[in-house]
Amino acid sequence: MTNNETLTVRDNRTGQEYEIPIADGAIRASDLGKVGQTADEHGLAVYDPGFTNTASTRSAVTFIDGDKGILEYRGYPIEQLAESSNFLEVAYLLIHGSLPTKEQFDTWEHEITYHTFVHENVRSLMQGFRYDAHPMGMLRSGVGALSTFYPEAREIKDPAIRHQQIVRLIAKMPTLGAWSFRNAQGKPYVYPDNDLSYTENFLSMLFKMSEPAYQPDPRLAKALDVLFILHADHEQNCSTNAVRSVGSSQVDPYSAVSAGIAALYGPLHGGANEAVLRMLARIKTIENVPAFIEGVKKGEERLMGFGHRVYKNYDPRAKLITKACDDVFEVTGVSPLLEVAQELEKIALEDEYFVSRKLYPNVDFYSGLIYEALQFPPEMFTVLFAIGRTPGWLAQWLELVDDPEQKIARPKQIYTGDRGLDFVPASQRWA
Ligand code: SDX
Repeated sequence: MTNNETLTVRDNRTGQEYEIPIADGAIRASDLGKVGQTADEHGLAVYDPGFTNTASTRSAVTFIDGDKGILEYRGYPIEQLAESSNFLEVAYLLIHGSLPTKEQFDTWEHEITYHTFVHENVRSLMQGFRYDAHPMGMLRSGVGALSTFYPEAREIKDPAIRHQQIVRLIAKMPTLGAWSFRNAQGKPYVYPDNDLSYTENFLSMLFKMSEPAYQPDPRLAKALDVLFILHADHEQNCSTNAVRSVGSSQVDPYSAVSAGIAALYGPLHGGANEAVLRMLARIKTIENVPAFIEGVKKGEERLMGFGHRVYKNYDPRAKLITKACDDVFEVTGVSPLLEVAQELEKIALEDEYFVSRKLYPNVDFYSGLIYEALQFPPEMFTVLFAIGRTPGWLAQWLELVDDPEQKIARPKQIYTGDRGLDFVPASQRWA
């Protein structure tokens, strides 16, 4: 830090000046809290709805440069990982902080493969949902329920116990996700097939019928593996913030990840991919695109799959997903909604309303088209997002648990309600 890495703050209420250190492009809110602090008065707080300009943690997991459209996991560019790695290797990288040796990867893959089953009572729990239960609601409940089957998981400071829960969660998410899908179809649940890879096994649990062993199409398995890589982490997004906030109470990782699933469910976050497909289906043809865009500009609705809190340029994942689209469409045929999506993107990228707000396609804009081509119904799209994001949530949770600076999350507020009212009992109020 050079000697001028400070902020001089003058409190004009008192004339007092304060020197506040600047480190890593930030100041500590606790230093700002000294401004105006007296024996009787709290100092200044920072009011930041949605944490648009608040750093909640230091992290070494994922780096994003929103202006340049850069995304790196543990320093590796997403483009290289999507091109040359696989989801379980990326999961290892995120969790352990470095790429695995062959022995480490083989052990990791074996552990995850042999933890894909869940307790039979979890199957009964999943079968208790209505046929039309949203799969995200089932997944959130199933993951939360796992915490009751592994009570040792609350020993969050024990590295061996932590590792075991991390393996279990990464391994069981596809099982719970696939069963949520089968429940909606009234089909029997398919148990894991340990002879298949992580993504092939997921496809088997989703689509296997009476054949002795499911034969996954390697091109579709590969496309899904790339999609899981692209969704694996994204620094302090809404659902990761939920995992960290809930995890800061030192609860078990199943409960923290269940909170992350709940946050991801929302249409402004992971639920956007489902909302994009429904939006494209509603627009239906490119002739309807101009009218729809006008409606968005009037504030009547949002262009789902566009915009991002961090990316003020193209989301690098959106570009990689369009490539995965081509690979999948080679197998499945092109989605009729692709031309609607491309027309929306073309018009939005030229229109002042979107350009001035730096609204570009994000990860959710095209991913839904692939999922639809892979025969997933829209309500399953966010389940796929959650399976991909699980290693990221867990890597962030691990950082939180081991970070000596972290405390239980308990923000301040600016109180705007009444004060000092005298209570009148109901008997008098209603007399
Ligand atoms: C994900 O954070 C992450 O990293 C998330 C994620 C991850 O990997 O975890 O990347 C995954 O959630 C991607 C985002 C998916 N959501 C959507 O596609 C839903 C549509 N997008 C938006 O609702 C919005 O862009 C957000 C939620 C993504 C970001 O919202 P911000 O940063 O809070 O921005 P904002 O809502 O304050 O919008 C700024 C302006 C507003 O206009 P004005 O009020 O200034 O006139 O841009 C407008 C908004 O109305 N705007 C949009 C828009 N997004 C923002 N207008 C039309 N369509 C949109 N999609």
